[in-house]
Amino acid sequence: MKYKKRLLYIENVSAERIAKKFGTPCYVYSYDKISNNINNFKKNFKTISPLICFSVKSNSNLKILSLINKFGLGADVVSKGELIRALKAKIKPEKIVFSGVGKTIDELKFAISKKILLINTESENEIVEIEKIAKKNKKKINIGIRLNPNIDAQTIKKISTGKKENKFGVTEKKFLELLKKYKRSKFISIICLSVHIGSQITSHLPYKNMLNVVNKIIQKSKYKFKYLDLGGGMGIQYGNNLNNLDYSKYNQLIKSFLKKNNSKIIFEPGRSIVGNAGYLISKITYIKEADSKNFVILDSAMNDLIRPALYGAKHRIIPSKLNRKKISKKHEFVGPICETTDTFLNVANYQKIKQGDIIIICDVGAYGMVLSSNYNLRPKPVEILVNKSTTKIITKRQKLKNII
Ligand code: LLP
Repeated sequence: MKYKKRLLYIENVSAERIAKKFGTPCYVYSYDKISNNINNFKKNFKTISPLICFSVKSNSNLKILSLINKFGLGADVVSKGELIRALKAKIKPEKIVFSGVGKTIDELKFAISKKILLINTESENEIVEIEKIAKKNKKKINIGIRLNPNIDAQTIKKISTGKKENKFGVTEKKFLELLKKYKRSKFISIICLSVHIGSQITSHLPYKNMLNVVNKIIQKSKYKFKYLDLGGGMGIQYGNNLNNLDYSKYNQLIKSFLKKNNSKIIFEPGRSIVGNAGYLISKITYIKEADSKNFVILDSAMNDLIRPALYGAKHRIIPSKLNRKKISKKHEFVGPICETTDTFLNVANYQKIKQGDIIIICDVGAYGMVLSSNYNLRPKPVEILVNKSTTKIITKRQKLKNII
């Protein structure tokens, strides 16, 4: 993404052209960015040669998943729907892991019938159900047990998963108990210890603490896990002066961990693969001048992108056309939905903009479209994939008549 002659380009196509051709609001993904992110991820963790299972919940678009499959990644799924979608994208079952605290019996049966790599269980109840299904089918099923390491991921509270008060995984005590109880089961084979402490983690230190806890528990259990699934959570840079995770530091930590414990590493990255590859192109419907600020009312709203409303997340908002004139007044970019939280960003001042201008909300490739809804009976936006000079619709805009 860069400006050429003051116009913003995503790869070789201007945002203005995309807006004109496909309308707004419009999600756009850059092929180049996704492939760079994947290559960069692979390169940084090359020495530990992990199985990289893309976290489908972050972006479940079929074309994006097919692209991810082309790069050899597997999938981390959390529902039957995501599993079917991943298989439809031709991701091999032996590269798919199934996570989640509440998999239903139907979901478990389906996953077992598809012979996926492993099911990461999160409670004894779930293990009991898997054992029953396995017994009935006279099969031995591979599972992982998710540990709740009681670690603070130092990220947004609402997306932390590794503290003992969070619903995820089992405590260290329970983990050891389950291992003892089920390690000789005829119907399940515990092949993995899984852990995921949260999302948008920008320091390697929480991972260091996590690995210490995992190391301690493995030593205590004296059990050999074929896989160690470390989850995802690698944070990206949302603003110019914010940090992203230093992969090399994390890689180093894992390398020293593997000297003591020889397991195959699984990662489940979502945001770090697609987050900065997505843009939400929007049009300014009105600019309302209030006493203390200008409200810039967009045609996209919290139903299209809920992260600011839900987590107070800040996404950069940039103009499609640069203008040297600045207006030194506060600007608040908002959506049209009848909720005070339908607001994207406050900025101290902005370049001169007007009704009808195109603006771009950045870094929305992860947890953007997947969290969209029809709130206020607004149709979901179109999704476009840009590859050099080509643009392709990868999900059509919902038609109003189909949601009424
Ligand atoms: N593995 C497990 C078990 C997870 O729960 C998650 C994310 C991931 C992997 C992928 O994490 P990532 O690499 O994308 O950070 N909607 C929130 C994020 C929720 C994350 C949920 N779990 C947001 O918009 O920030």
